[in-house]
Amino acid sequence: MKTIVANFKMNPTSEKEAVSLLENYQKNYENFKNVNLIIAPPFVYLDKAKNLNFSLAAQNCFYLNEGPYTGEISPLMLKNLGVQYVIVGHSERRQMGETDEIINKKIQSILNNELTPILCIGETKEEKLKGKKEEVLKNQLEKDLKLENNLSPVNKSIFIAYEPVWAIGTGDFCDPEEANLTHQFIKEFIHYQFFNFDVKILYGGSVDSKNIKNFLNQLNIDGALVGGASIKKEEIAKILEIANSY
Ligand code: PGA
Repeated sequence: MKTIVANFKMNPTSEKEAVSLLENYQKNYENFKNVNLIIAPPFVYLDKAKNLNFSLAAQNCFYLNEGPYTGEISPLMLKNLGVQYVIVGHSERRQMGETDEIINKKIQSILNNELTPILCIGETKEEKLKGKKEEVLKNQLEKDLKLENNLSPVNKSIFIAYEPVWAIGTGDFCDPEEANLTHQFIKEFIHYQFFNFDVKILYGGSVDSKNIKNFLNQLNIDGALVGGASIKKEEIAKILEIANSY
């Protein structure tokens, strides 16, 4: 079964539109149950989606469970709301100053709360052109996933989203065969540390209904993290129908 993560990002701007979008997912999902569907709306709409039949992800969280941290949302709050997944380290957040150290704290806290992290990693165009892709990915994985020795999460599940920064929101997606090789590299690299975890690797970056099949056909691609296309109703039905056929 393939996984589709729908990352709405900071969209849509009204509750009415959000509910309409979520209901559209619900309607389509009835017909395409052979997909692990995870919807990541903005925090303010999570509550509207909690009784629907797909899984829910938050787009971010803080690394402590409660206290004087104005404006933050904790993993425990998300868990208590029924959220199962949290996207961490998206490049749009890294560009705003989120460091590997912060991302690592969030990963530990998410696992401690028995939630599943969806860790985003990826290289910039410049790093790719300089032949540094694997070095960059290795560095992010090492720093972001460094777990404390005493951490033994009950829910031993982790998702990695390989998202080349240059492919996000640009229409310039990665060649699927190249993405497959990169996923293989990621799998082999983290296998040693996470051999007793269920590790799934998703591709993200300008995925739409026209190119998704070429990604899902690849052996090491367990699914897709879809941004822009995930808020277009005409794309949603097509993407789910294709993912359902695996
Ligand atoms: P995109 O975004 O599909 O619009 O490129 C992917 C993502 O969530 O990073």
